[in-house]
Amino acid sequence: MRPSAVTETIAPSERVQGRVTVPGDKSISHRYAMLAALADGVSTIRGYSTGFDCRTTLACLRALGVDIAWDPDRVTITGRPDGFVQPDRPLDAENSGTTMRLLSGILAAQPLVATITGDASLCRRPMRRVTSPLTTMGARVDSNDGRPPLTIHGARLHGIVHQPEVPSAQIKSCVLLAGLGASGTTTVHEPAPTRDHTERGLQTFNAQVASESGQVTIAGGQRLTARDVTVPGDLSSAAFWAALAAGTPGGSVTIDGVGLNPTRTTVLEILRRAGADVEVHVDDPASAEPSGTLRVAARDWNDFSIAPSEVPGVIDEIPALAALAAMMPEGRTFEVRGAAELRVKESDRISCLAAGLRAMGSQVEEFEDGFRLTARRLHAATLDCADDHRLVMAFAIAATRASGFVTILDSSPAAISYPEFFENLCGLTLAGA
Ligand code: S3P
Repeated sequence: MRPSAVTETIAPSERVQGRVTVPGDKSISHRYAMLAALADGVSTIRGYSTGFDCRTTLACLRALGVDIAWDPDRVTITGRPDGFVQPDRPLDAENSGTTMRLLSGILAAQPLVATITGDASLCRRPMRRVTSPLTTMGARVDSNDGRPPLTIHGARLHGIVHQPEVPSAQIKSCVLLAGLGASGTTTVHEPAPTRDHTERGLQTFNAQVASESGQVTIAGGQRLTARDVTVPGDLSSAAFWAALAAGTPGGSVTIDGVGLNPTRTTVLEILRRAGADVEVHVDDPASAEPSGTLRVAARDWNDFSIAPSEVPGVIDEIPALAALAAMMPEGRTFEVRGAAELRVKESDRISCLAAGLRAMGSQVEEFEDGFRLTARRLHAATLDCADDHRLVMAFAIAATRASGFVTILDSSPAAISYPEFFENLCGLTLAGA
């Protein structure tokens, strides 16, 4: 259950300074919970995301008969390697595309019939990208013309070779998780590299996965083994603090314990190109999911852009980067092309980002596959964030540079990935006041 709507007013802030930790990585949390649910034995997950999306995954797994205990410092999951139980009601993935798409892959190989539904935003999002390969593997999946709810009739699946039309870690992961429960081998050819947490997670839970030159292969029928794992902080959440520091003259923020998986760090390259000082210290490069300390400070403000080939690696950080661009001195530009996928995220992130940043004063030209922002003086505004967590956080960051108070009509979606966001924003802006 999400919190009820909250109106938040952001005051202009002259200084940004401090040290912060962010909630556990959302992508890794979902995966560790699902893999633990399939594994033989009892797994513990430390650092599990406090975000509502990841609670949603736990609620769905519980409805499938998985025993889960949530203590303050860890989630304990007793796996059901011999199969989930038939749920007695539809599973509610709420706002979480990752829950719906990855769980669909797992359920397709289970001998049960399960419906997964979601909130209004999720029910608008495209699912044919997962239902089509699952059908080819032998499952039957009913949908609302390619959108949720999905009713998955599990079956004995057979491995396939699949090339998704769009680069997507969720599609790759759905097919690999279905492949784990299928006969034969399953291969995904990635049109461009995407985050590899599923591959790493499968290996951590004792499965063999081969990744080589853009293709990932898994043999079906492997049994997972329970593990004690730790989720690093979410770099996509840290990106908001990076943008806040980089966009505020004299700003500096240090983020401890943040995930630094190389398939996620393109954002750091882009921050550097935009003129920020970015220092990274990796604590244990050999760990399953590398993590460390990130320090970002304002130095310079350059025009910057994201090349289409970089987009899959930075897809979730584009709202934070757009906020940084909006905070820059007048006339600086930021351009993104090749990012049509942004239109099918929790909201249409091209038009909703453009609308919110324009309302604060930025000049934004919208393209079908991206946008070009020209920084202008930001001013007071009242913003609708389209019920999208990353837009709430992006607008809140940009708002700190506005000349007047910015009101966010409903800031509660931030809790989807970052319930502590406004508390931390207050700490980082007050610390330097
Ligand atoms: C995610 C993959 C990305 C990302 C999403 C999380 C994941 O989605 O936008 O927030 O955990 O695999 P796509 O795979 O649809 O690009």
